[in-house]
Amino acid sequence: MPDDLEQMWADLAPVGRSAVSGGYFRQPFLDAERELAAWFVEQAAARGLAVETDGFGNQVAWWGPPDHDAVLTGSHLDSVLDGGAYDGPLGVVSAFAALDLLRERGVVPRRRVGVAAFVEEEGSRFGQACLGSRLATGAISWETARALRDRDGVALGDVVEGVVEGVVEGGSSTLLAGVSAYVELHVEQGRDLVDRGEPVGVASEIWPHGRWRLDVTGEANHAGSTRMEDRSDPMLTYAMTALAANKRARLTGQRATFGRVEVTPNGTNAIASRVTAWLDARASTDQALADLVATVERQAVERAGRDGTSVALTAESVSAAVAFDPALTAGRPWPVLPTQAGHDAGILSAAGIPSAMLFVRNPTGVSHSPAEHAETADCLAGVVALADVLEGLVGR
Ligand code: GLV
Ligand code: MN
Ligand code: MN
Repeated sequence: MPDDLEQMWADLAPVGRSAVSGGYFRQPFLDAERELAAWFVEQAAARGLAVETDGFGNQVAWWGPPDHDAVLTGSHLDSVLDGGAYDGPLGVVSAFAALDLLRERGVVPRRRVGVAAFVEEEGSRFGQACLGSRLATGAISWETARALRDRDGVALGDVVEGVVEGVVEGGSSTLLAGVSAYVELHVEQGRDLVDRGEPVGVASEIWPHGRWRLDVTGEANHAGSTRMEDRSDPMLTYAMTALAANKRARLTGQRATFGRVEVTPNGTNAIASRVTAWLDARASTDQALADLVATVERQAVERAGRDGTSVALTAESVSAAVAFDPALTAGRPWPVLPTQAGHDAGILSAAGIPSAMLFVRNPTGVSHSPAEHAETADCLAGVVALADVLEGLVGR
């Protein structure tokens, strides 16, 4: 008997969990996340599913006739820094549970069904959101990706080649060959379903979004003996840019966040020589996103002129608007919601694979934080919903 949803959840609960915050640190190719990758292989084995791993570390557990096209479900097992338990793992656990339910129902699949776990969805270590699915679809080349470095300067190429078996042959993945649909279940990252009193929803679209690195260069000097009018302080340029981004996003109904900043040399009694900060920007249309980022950049440059600093804004990963395929969930009773969060389903959709997402109610409405939550009853409703969609796609 394979583990049921509650048992799978109990198995995952301690992995990578901080005793201090209760949040999760499951960064790609480090111990906790590798433990989850091994757990994935065990769960597949318990169900008699064949696991395929590409050279980047993406995993798929396959069920059904191998010579047919495939429907994929699943999500990711990595987390943001100090993240919640549900963002990612709920989709993988629910995928295994939905497959069990299909078997209980006696469904004999006429197409293959794959349970997927994509690596580095959050971009928390190498900076690129949805890195695994971008590599699997060819949206980013291995030549580019292998040079990405983590905060300690370790290159992705060196990490992957040491950890994943079957190193990247020819720089590409064949994992998605024959995949003709993808359905990802995810914890909701807002309060829409709570407000509607519904346990399950379906996604209509993903807002365009991206990450930009802001490098501000100034002049290091003494915090006491340097007169205020003689400074080139990059901290000021950064602080004013963060305020300007927030204001612009509020005024236009978009989103702009600086959640990460690195200060050099980061001393209390010295003016910084350099500040690097990351802008996460999201907007309802591609044009609105371009306008938002252009405005932030213009304001940063203007401010740098006054501070005697210099700035550069560099795009690190940008995703255009995604519209999910309504045919995959047609006729279902669930409310339809847009999302401002990025997902592997968006990357597969952009690569031409018809994709859909289901959301499970999150009573706190909080995500990317230890406060993220979903009740077991709602998770089980999500499993039934996912099984229903999959049955419609692969059942006879
Ligand atoms: C991923 O969850 C993102 O939206 O950044
Ligand atoms: Mn996330
Ligand atoms: Mn996610």
